[in-house]
Amino acid sequence: MAEEAILGYLEKNEEIGDSGQFAAEFGIDHNEIVNLIKSLHGFRYVDAQDIKRESWVLTEEGKAYAAAGSPEVQLFLAIPPEGISKEELQKKLGPLALKIALAQAAKNKWVDIGKQLISRKVQHVDDKVKNLLLQIQDGQDIDPDDIKALKGRKLIVSQTWKGYSVKKGPNYAPRRKKVVTDLTRDNLQSGEWKELEFKEYNYTAKGLPVEGGHLHPLLKVRDQVKKIFFCMGFEEMPTNNFVESSFWNFDALFQPQQHPARDSHDTFFLQAPSTTKELPEDYVQRVKRVHEYGGYESRGYGYDWKREEANKNLLRTHTTAVSSRMLYLMAQKPFSPKKYFSIDRVFRNEAVDRTHLAEFHQIEGLVCDRGLTLCNLIEVLHDFFSRLGMTKLKFKPAYNPYTEPSMEIFSYHEGFKKWVEVGNSGMFRPEMLCPMGLPEDVRVIAWGLSLERPTMIMYGDR
Ligand code: PHE
Repeated sequence: MAEEAILGYLEKNEEIGDSGQFAAEFGIDHNEIVNLIKSLHGFRYVDAQDIKRESWVLTEEGKAYAAAGSPEVQLFLAIPPEGISKEELQKKLGPLALKIALAQAAKNKWVDIGKQLISRKVQHVDDKVKNLLLQIQDGQDIDPDDIKALKGRKLIVSQTWKGYSVKKGPNYAPRRKKVVTDLTRDNLQSGEWKELEFKEYNYTAKGLPVEGGHLHPLLKVRDQVKKIFFCMGFEEMPTNNFVESSFWNFDALFQPQQHPARDSHDTFFLQAPSTTKELPEDYVQRVKRVHEYGGYESRGYGYDWKREEANKNLLRTHTTAVSSRMLYLMAQKPFSPKKYFSIDRVFRNEAVDRTHLAEFHQIEGLVCDRGLTLCNLIEVLHDFFSRLGMTKLKFKPAYNPYTEPSMEIFSYHEGFKKWVEVGNSGMFRPEMLCPMGLPEDVRVIAWGLSLERPTMIMYGDR
């Protein structure tokens, strides 16, 4: 092992004079030696001093000549005894730089350059340049004049070589001691702790980078759905009230007070404050009347509507509670068509287990305009769901207290190879819209779905 070689050498010798020679002697890569010296120096096992040396290395051209011979020798060897023309010579030598070769050969007085022919002046030549280049490649020292000449011909360049001289440091030991980072129960029980050397605390070390938060898949899909609604020209409704009165959550939606969904099995009622402070009184009276006697061509439910029931606070069970508030507000102003959406949490009294929570997110969209029909609803549903990647839709008649007609929405799932229910929809009843004061020819088409279902489908779970 290289580390043992260094420490072992220093046990018997005063110093390692030159890490380069040391590396060559022990047949170890110099880079490895350098890294070990740095590390040993850091722990003060050794003291290391920099050594810098200029050395010569061959350029690409120099390497080529070291292998194939200098151009002047290549040229000399290509000249036949009877001489040769310049053109022929160039052909024989191929891409070799003839000019340089000729100049060098002429300088050495090896060749005669006549008008027609180039011929040999001597019988034999030595390739001194090639030999010098090979010596340099070998790391041998050569004559400064030769260096100058080779440098002038750009066959060699200087390179700074960096190494170390190394002596024992204040913590020197023939072997690196293992430093312990944690004191264990075993260390204590065995008494080993007395001998152990502990790693010092590094108070300036930077800790692990803090992992940032991540967006929950539901939030990501919520953003996607929001964008879809914005692209379709919808405005977002304010959904920042989880606590709602039974009035807006149920009564305004023509949901009778005995309806099973209003039971505490399905709805969380608030203990404090258990009732709402205020409701729009004249509207409350119209809602009471439509529940009890009907109107607007309806017969109503024919029961005693109780104000105390409407006053009860609850955690909203659907975002349609928000829609009912918004439609009521709209009815207080001169009518103009609107497209609204909301995406937020709703609460239902479910037994909580691994796959069920007592809350989920609802996505709701509504379009409010004069003379809308079921065709408009089907059209907007196709538009909306195709933007979510659901292009095949089917509709099934359904029932909601506040819509007529009502349709459940199914989409064909290519992966599951079956139709899955993806939402609920309908046209809000006159019994809901007329008491609010909306003009009689105004129709509201609406649909709702959970955010969880499309998210599960997108993230590949059921
Ligand atoms: N509020 C309905 C639900 O809870 C969804 C819905 C919204 C249905 C609008 C029709 C119209 O499932």
